[in-house]
Amino acid sequence: KVIPANLQYPEGKIVNVAHRGASGYAPEHTIPSYELGEELNGDYIEVDLQMTSDGTLIAMHDVSVDRTTDGTGLVENMTVEEIKQLDAGSWFNAAYPEKAKEEYVGLKVPTLEEIFDRFGSGSNYYIETKSPDVYPGMEEELLRLIESYGLSDNVLIQSFSSDSLKLTHSLDPSMPLVQLISQPALGNNAEDELEEIEQYAIGVGPNFNNINEEYVHTVRSHELQIHPYTVNTKEAMKTALEWGVTGLFTNYPDLFSDVITEF
Ligand code: G3P
Ligand code: CA
Repeated sequence: KVIPANLQYPEGKIVNVAHRGASGYAPEHTIPSYELGEELNGDYIEVDLQMTSDGTLIAMHDVSVDRTTDGTGLVENMTVEEIKQLDAGSWFNAAYPEKAKEEYVGLKVPTLEEIFDRFGSGSNYYIETKSPDVYPGMEEELLRLIESYGLSDNVLIQSFSSDSLKLTHSLDPSMPLVQLISQPALGNNAEDELEEIEQYAIGVGPNFNNINEEYVHTVRSHELQIHPYTVNTKEAMKTALEWGVTGLFTNYPDLFSDVITEF
């Protein structure tokens, strides 16, 4: 898997982001899900971050552990040791019996350090600061880990929070950032929003359901990257490529890899 030196935003390179890993096939934000994302031709492992009460960054989508583990409670109120007691795989087997595997039982919630240890500099990471208001200091800790692992060239940082991205930009102006947007301003209103974003970010990650071809063209005219989320059918992937997206988030990186090849 060869990615050009300017890997985060190469002109003409379509970025295949394995959303929560290959989460269409394996329990999201577990090491097997990330491994499968790579096997299925994902270019980036997508990692959503929460932070424990003792300051450890962990991979989890929700602020609470309830949906994706056998525990209950908020991550902010739990130590990493408590998080490590949880089973992060069995819920998937119960929810998706047709995709269930015995090996998913008892999977642990990975810390960001464990992810970096496992995949190292041979992988790329598309890391989201989730709920940054709940976790003051998460941006500093994230940048500290990226620096200490020497992974600056392997990381994109994304957030719905413009404050989190602006803080990250002020701490490290060279870090490529992507502004997530659930309801992008369309039509003429797109200009102001994009002019603001391009002050600190290299691209946008809009909800694919809320954009159109004109919006993609407008984003590209600003020389911003556009990686919509979360696109899970080949038909929608093809449409996204026809509109001119520069990548996308998908639970099925194998499908997107096929669509890119066929395009
Ligand atoms: O980060 C892109 C996409 O994952 C945003 O939505 O809720 O899945 O984190 P969510
Ligand atoms: Ca995300």
